[in-house]
Amino acid sequence: MKRPDVFDYFAPGRVNLIGEHIDYCGGYVLPFAINLGTYLSIKPNGGSCHVFATDNYEPHEVKVDVNNLTPLQKGLWVNYPLGIIARFAEKEFRLPACDFYYYGNLPSGAGLSSSASVELVTAVALNDLLHSGMDLLDLVKMAKDCENNFVGVNCGIMDQFAVGFGKKNNSILLNCNTLDYSYADFNLGDNVVVVVNTNKVRKLTDSKYNERFNQCLELKKIIGGVREIDCLCDLKSEEIGEYRTLINDDVLFRRLRHVVTENERVFQTYHALKDNNLQEVGKLLVEAHASIRDDYEATGIELDTIVESAVEIDGVIGARMTGGGFGGCALAIVNEDKVEDFMGRLAERYTQKTGLVPSFYLVKPADGAKKI
Ligand code: GLA
Repeated sequence: MKRPDVFDYFAPGRVNLIGEHIDYCGGYVLPFAINLGTYLSIKPNGGSCHVFATDNYEPHEVKVDVNNLTPLQKGLWVNYPLGIIARFAEKEFRLPACDFYYYGNLPSGAGLSSSASVELVTAVALNDLLHSGMDLLDLVKMAKDCENNFVGVNCGIMDQFAVGFGKKNNSILLNCNTLDYSYADFNLGDNVVVVVNTNKVRKLTDSKYNERFNQCLELKKIIGGVREIDCLCDLKSEEIGEYRTLINDDVLFRRLRHVVTENERVFQTYHALKDNNLQEVGKLLVEAHASIRDDYEATGIELDTIVESAVEIDGVIGARMTGGGFGGCALAIVNEDKVEDFMGRLAERYTQKTGLVPSFYLVKPADGAKKI
């Protein structure tokens, strides 16, 4: 039986169907919230603010000093809830003397937005408990700010937005420049999305994520010097050749090519989904993987092995890495009758090549963060 003095909240993770590493370039993305996520139980304790974690999160117990809300050692999971608590404290809200228990079934640091999930579950909970009256978009922006300025990852807004605004059976077409969005019916017929975790340990804070972000800033500066642009994704693929000499650096030019072509693939995928043309969706996913592998160099042997092996297996419509990359997860669209066979074959090939054992999750588009 539910205790009346315990308040429960849930925030999902997300899978990005397509539109990778372009949210911070003002691009379009097509993510969906998933049926795995983070639970938060809050119980008043009449004393102080106390954060605990179990399950998939690094076991942690931190007594929060509300007068000194600064990040703990870099890379620690607990910085995510701390960052949100700090943001509410800065807004002069009196923090409740409560125990915060986090638990869940979302693999942490695997590219399924475990960090945004923790941020949003905390933000939605505090907004509710403190009656702070912020709307969902305010909470999403607060979570992104926490990740950028408290945790120290220059992420875009895709993850926090998808975790906040997720809707059952839908993906979200989001313009990351204007934050205009629309839901897109996610109908895969008799196919399902299988997420494959490389189980390669990585941390976005340690990875090349911020380096890619800075390369895009540099590109915007170079192109912005000769032409007015709001963001890199204003450019069209047929125009970028004009800037080849100006950019004068092969790596930077390839980064730009990924950003601009990926933005175009998002639209193509959105329309292919609307037309129920799954073969086209699959083709675009594979093209997107090649682009982020060759031009953006944000994959690695583990993700490449998964995608290259997956597309050769019977019943697979398409596959690509998803999320921040450099390890983490890939997704595959697989015929539902072939899923068992797919997982067996893929695990065998992947382990043979990398020595690692993959994990599989069958995911569905789900609702965003909420009180339960
Ligand atoms: C991480 C970031 C997002 C986005 C993706 C790549 O998940 O948090 O903002 O940049 O990587 O698409």
